Amino acid sequence: MVYFDNAATSWPKPETVYKAMDYFSRQVGANPGRSGHKMSVEAERIVLNAREASAELFGIEDSSRMILTFNATDSLNLAIKCLLRKGDHVVTSAFEHNSVIRPLRHLEQLDIIELTIVPCTKEGFLNPADVKKSIRPNTKLVTLIHASNVTGTIMPVEEVGEIVSKYDGVYYMIDAAQTAGVIPIDVKQYKLDLLAVPGHKCLFGPQGTGGLYIGEGLEDIMPSFKEGGTGSLSEQEVHPDFLPDKYESGTKNTGGLAGLAAGIEFIMETGIDKISKHEHELTEQLIKGLQKIEGVTMYGPQDADKQTAVVSINVDGLRSNEVGYYLDQQQGIMTRVGLHCAPIAHKTMGTSPDGTVRLSMGYFNTAEEVDYVCKALSTLTKNGI
Ligand SMILES: Cc1ncc(COP(=O)(O)O)c(C=O)c1O
Repeated sequence: MVYFDNAATSWPKPETVYKAMDYFSRQVGANPGRSGHKMSVEAERIVLNAREASAELFGIEDSSRMILTFNATDSLNLAIKCLLRKGDHVVTSAFEHNSVIRPLRHLEQLDIIELTIVPCTKEGFLNPADVKKSIRPNTKLVTLIHASNVTGTIMPVEEVGEIVSKYDGVYYMIDAAQTAGVIPIDVKQYKLDLLAVPGHKCLFGPQGTGGLYIGEGLEDIMPSFKEGGTGSLSEQEVHPDFLPDKYESGTKNTGGLAGLAAGIEFIMETGIDKISKHEHELTEQLIKGLQKIEGVTMYGPQDADKQTAVVSINVDGLRSNEVGYYLDQQQGIMTRVGLHCAPIAHKTMGTSPDGTVRLSMGYFNTAEEVDYVCKALSTLTKNGI
């Protein structure tokens, strides 16, 4: 079996991730920080580990600014819905995932915000000057995907950060769902106010984990998203207003966070450079292999220097779901077909409404697997289904 669906969620995870989750489930099990007994103290240590490891990975000095969430969608909704107010304007790109577009469209429909979607080329490239031109006196947020989940195209996030930082009262967020763990991210270098990450993709954590970095001072203008038990200031009927408790309430996914901490430790021990070099090599090999197959159309940059390990294709004469079904059933290759929750990207690429077949690789994929996938597609183009 070949798993080429890492852009949806990474698999397999490092062995240490399974071990950490097993340790929590069998030997800890308690609610972090609520009860004060040994098991709960150990659970709290696990949560702190996950918070500190993710803060360290993204150059965040004060780890309480790393809010632990349940996925990237959760992080993006928290940021968008707590920051934006009536009359605000938002700038985003045509390659965003629905987890950005839908909350923004929702606020637009409620007549709360105005939205500008900056066009991209069909390969997914964005011109930072177009972002600059879109900023208005009432712009409150510029939010940008770090790399496309459809074509892998890497966005000019540093250049856009430079532009946004020149405007007072305009905040900058990146959706690093496809890059956190595989492209180095430093919140200061990119001049980020908000950084949304999932734990379950390139960070190697399990599903049900994620994070949101909240820049200094933002907690003063962003109200809490949900209120409830935090284990702190329990005598108070109103929700605490200090970090991270202001944005975290209810029982955490502590078993998941044990896995997330182990996933990040794996990245730090292995080195992001080594991980990204391996994925770069696989991407280069896949692009070259696919270019040789007549009947396969590739989308996006087709250049491993300009994209992550995500490649979208179609096969002449077949719908994307027919190709995905064939790869799964006949060849044992797992991919993702359709619109990948990015309908505007597909409109831009000219691949709506059928979408594409997305081949997405991770650190644990091999050169042999890339060869196997190319051979399977070559067979399909020659023999049909
Ligand atoms: C670019 C991008 N943003 C956001 C998300 C949402 O992530 P999650 O599933 O963790 O909510 C995804 C998921 O595929 C994505 O690719």
